[in-house]
Amino acid sequence: MNYRELGRTGWKVSEISFGAWAIGAMWGQVDDAESLAALHRAIDLGVNFIDTADVYGMGRSERLIARLREERSETIYVATKAGRRLNPHTAEGYNESNLTSFVEDSLKNLSTDCLDLVQLHCPPTPVYYRPEVFGALDDLVKAGKLRYYGVSVETVEEALKAIEYPGVQSVQIIFNMFRLRPAELFFREAKRRKVGILARVPLASGLLTGRMTRETTFGKDDHRNFNRHGEMFDMGETFSGVDFETGLNAVDELRSVVSAGATMTQLALRWILMFDAVSCAIPGAKRPAQVDENFQAGNLAPLTDAQMAKVREVYDRLLRPQVHQRW
Ligand SMILES: NC(=O)c1ccc[n+]([C@@H]2O[C@H](COP(=O)([O-])OP(=O)(O)OC[C@H]3O[C@@H](n4cnc5c(N)ncnc54)[C@H](OP(=O)(O)O)[C@@H]3O)[C@@H](O)[C@H]2O)c1
Repeated sequence: MNYRELGRTGWKVSEISFGAWAIGAMWGQVDDAESLAALHRAIDLGVNFIDTADVYGMGRSERLIARLREERSETIYVATKAGRRLNPHTAEGYNESNLTSFVEDSLKNLSTDCLDLVQLHCPPTPVYYRPEVFGALDDLVKAGKLRYYGVSVETVEEALKAIEYPGVQSVQIIFNMFRLRPAELFFREAKRRKVGILARVPLASGLLTGRMTRETTFGKDDHRNFNRHGEMFDMGETFSGVDFETGLNAVDELRSVVSAGATMTQLALRWILMFDAVSCAIPGAKRPAQVDENFQAGNLAPLTDAQMAKVREVYDRLLRPQVHQRW
């Protein structure tokens, strides 16, 4: 495993880390014993950073990670998120009192007295224009409830605004072979300010594993079934906002780019690692075998100019019209 700096935190995080949404909820049936086995496998392979949120199974994901930390002696940084318990989910709800109460709940779920990193969980855009929200996070740091804070954003514009706040240590954003825009201006600005970048949805919700077909179906409780048009949360979180058919066509064209001996999944992750502004990719995994495959991406040789150019060409032709100006 290779490690990269995360912003100004002083942490060196595993470049292939672990996204813990699927082991909480909304990805069909999951089994806690298998989820825990996947987490252990990740630590065995050198993963030292896990992304979760209070709402992933309403504490289920955080509590599994707490169990993992009890059972392991290695340093494991945990990034959680706050804000999505708000109902309605409004900018006004992002105030000191609510944030403190969400943080207290995460402290309990994660069985700790100080959270490593708390990210605002894709708040409404006006939150980024309310310095008092970031002041509240500064207060929580001073109170010793959290070490660092960051944001998880939907759009490049939100990311650019967020990093104007000096306390923001990390930005989590969708970045994958179906979402190239963050690499244009945002990566440069984040690097200049030494802000860490967590590349989320790196496999486009599994489409970029190359294992899905037109016949693939998803369970009732899987967002790939019920959120394709943004019915429950931002449409961009499901298949990166690309319609399923277009995504399958793009994957078929990308098969020619896969390095000998590698898989499409590994190409997708290795492609992300080609960008040095990225601190880590956080692929979601539910099973140890998925963790194994994802980890191996870090051992692949750097992609060639020709491979990179083909990814760009497929993006420009098939994907750009659907996503580029939306997020
Ligand atoms: N708003 C936010 O802040 C936000 C939103 C989305 C995600 N995230 C974070 O980002 C993480 C990653 O994004 P994501 O989970 O949405 O999408 P993703 O990483 O692009 O896709 C994850 C899914 O792909 C499949 N998969 C993973 N590895 C595989 C492998 N080796 N072979 C075959 N299938 C594999 C699994 O689903 P199946 O096995 O069921 O196909 C897995 O649940 C999340 O876990 C979460 O921590 C944050």
